[in-house]
Amino acid sequence: MSPRTAHTAVAVHPLLAERWSPRSFDATHTIGDEELVSLLEAARWAPSSRNSQPWRFLVGRRGEPTYQRLFDSLVSSNRLWAGDSSLLIAALAAERAENGAAQHGPAYDTGLAVAQLSVQAHALGLHAHQMGGFDAERLRVSLGVPDGYRPLSVTAIGALASADLLPPELRARETAVRERRPLAETFFGDGWGDPLPVAP
Ligand SMILES: Cc1cc2nc3c(=O)[nH]c(=O)nc-3n(C[C@H](O)[C@H](O)[C@H](O)COP(=O)(O)O)c2cc1C
Repeated sequence: MSPRTAHTAVAVHPLLAERWSPRSFDATHTIGDEELVSLLEAARWAPSSRNSQPWRFLVGRRGEPTYQRLFDSLVSSNRLWAGDSSLLIAALAAERAENGAAQHGPAYDTGLAVAQLSVQAHALGLHAHQMGGFDAERLRVSLGVPDGYRPLSVTAIGALASADLLPPELRARETAVRERRPLAETFFGDGWGDPLPVAP
């Protein structure tokens, strides 16, 4: 069990307990075609409202123009570390269905797809770190995103490297204790605010 593993009241699947979002990535690591397609398939097979699949993705491997454009769209605090990742993937959600109807929850569905991709990354021995800190307009223009698609996140994926390689201001965050709100304040039973008896 790694020191980054989630502390849970009872056991959960190791893929979920051991997933975390690092900032130190191995700048020499590259992602093979099969691994890449495995990540994409994990996202593609996510559930969505009425199977609407509102998600689209822009994918770039380090060294490719798309990677550079996605990297350039990141806010400066993310540019400090994300450029060592092997892959950057932007997730975008269609605001309307193909027949023009309003979608139930395109961002909800697209988040599910990114979650599946992140867990698949962990299953492949990789790590994923999602970012909301990017300039959506810059991304839209530099990659020719049509109207009707909303950029939601950019995810960095790669192989973990030592925290010692990070700039000092990021090093402590890399090893800080991972925390979550307690179960009792998150999951309610007999009405709002009433903790489930089984969830301490
Ligand atoms: C939608 C979303 C946006 C995020 N944006 C950023 C970001 O811009 N920069 C960053 O360093 N981390 C970002 N994160 C990572 C979160 O800070 C991280 O998931 C959270 O602290 C929990 O840590 P864990 O993933 O290691 O469990 C984001 C995560 C999500 C899901």
